[in-house]
This record gives sequence, C-alpha cells and structure tokens, in this order.
Amino acid sequence: MVNSFIAVSISLFVLNNIVENVNGMKVAVYYEALCGDSVDFITHQLYPHFSELSDYIDLELIPYGKAVHNYNNGSYEFSCQHGPSECKGNKLQSCILAHNDDQLKQVQFVNCIMRRRSRSSSSTVKGCARQYHLDVENFDSCSKGSEGDRLLAGMGDKTLALDPSISFVPTIIFDGKYNEDVQNDSLVDFVAVVCSKIGGTKPSICENRHLPRRLWN
Ligand SMILES: *[C@@H]1O[C@H](CO)[C@@H](O)[C@H](O)[C@H]1NC(C)=O
Ligand SMILES: *[C@@H]1O[C@H](CO)[C@@H](O)[C@H](O)[C@H]1NC(C)=O
Repeated sequence: MVNSFIAVSISLFVLNNIVENVNGMKVAVYYEALCGDSVDFITHQLYPHFSELSDYIDLELIPYGKAVHNYNNGSYEFSCQHGPSECKGNKLQSCILAHNDDQLKQVQFVNCIMRRRSRSSSSTVKGCARQYHLDVENFDSCSKGSEGDRLLAGMGDKTLALDPSISFVPTIIFDGKYNEDVQNDSLVDFVAVVCSKIGGTKPSICENRHLPRRLWN
C-alpha cells in the first residue's frame, strides 16, 4: 500500500513536471504600436513560425514601450514615444488582448494590425480581431472608457518595472530575465533562440537551426 502510494506520488510528480515544461518557457514581448522595429519583430520573427512553437511557449504581449503615465485627479494621463495615436493604438490592442487569452490568436491578431498603416484606428483593430475570431464584445466600452486606461496603465507598470529599464523597443524577455545576447539574437532569429531553449525533443522547425553568428563585438 505504502509503496504503491509513493510510486503513484512520484509518477504524478514527474508527470506534473513534464506538463509544466511543455508550454513553460515564458516569453514576454514589450513593444509599441507605431514603432518600426516592433513591426519588424512581430511580422518577421514572432508571427511566421509561432504556430509551430506555441506549445513550448507561454507568451505575454505588452504594448506600451517607451511611454509614461500618471494618475491624476481620477484619470490616467499617458505620453507615448510616437505621440497620442501610439497610446491609442496600444490601448486598443490591450482591450482585445485582455479579453482573449488564446496566444496563437493573439499573435495572429497583433501581426494583422502591425502590417497596417492605420494601426491606431479602432476599425483596424476591431477588423483584425474579427478576422481571427477574437471576442470583440467589450471592445467599444473598454476602449472608450476607463477600462482601457486601466489596462494600458497595467501594461505600463509591467514595462516600467523592467530591470534594467527598457532601452530598445521591442524588448524580448525569456523567463523574466533580461539578457542582452538573447535580446540581440531574438531580433535576428527568434525561432533559433526559442529552439535553443527547448529541452528534450524539439519540434521539426528546430532542425538545423543555430543561433545567429555574432557579428557584433
Ligand atoms: C478634478 O476633476 C474635477 C472633475 O473633472 C474638477 O472639477 C476639479 O477641479 C479637478 N481638480 C483638480 C485639482 O484639478
Ligand atoms: C547588442 O546589440 C547592440 C545594438 O546593435 C550592441 O550595441 C550591443 O553591443 C550588442 N550586445 C551584445 C552582448 O552583443
């Protein structure tokens, strides 16, 4: 009895760890709506092979970038690197992301927006959300009301908590720790960086993928 209880406990423990490892690599992408480098990263690095890597990644998208906010007399004020329309674009994305947690759909949605010129318009954001069947029920009330401000401020609090503080947008953080090599490599070959961090059997996209040769230094 005791032995089989221990055996069951051990195998549950092992199973739990395996389950945790799949989908356990945390990847956080700090970006902003009107930034060319964010467009490049999302459309050329994050999006193209995300469906093949999604099972190994626990993704968080944080649209805020180099901005500041403060809470003044009952409402938030934001100031963004590329002006008020960037704040608006980040807020619109935050409203959709907060109500849709399927990370593959999130990536498809953000990729759809970042390819457009009119990235800060409600109709672009709503259209991209609809195209990938994301829930838009709360979108109008969120983006026009205080919820959107609160969500954007939350993205800001996460961004401003980065240590070291954000210097390049986008910033890509694996498992909560900034690393300059990983950051630089991610901008050049995100797939290779993810592949290098997958333990055990890797998906076929990882075959013959090597980290970018270091041209810097
Ligand atoms: C705060 O906002 C209220 C309502 O908009 C306004 O009446 C009041 O004068 C404001 N107070 C300050 C200190 O700005
Ligand atoms: C990362 O890239 C930046 C900008 O190109 C460069 O200045 C820096 O030296 C690089 N860091 C490393 C560790 O290679």
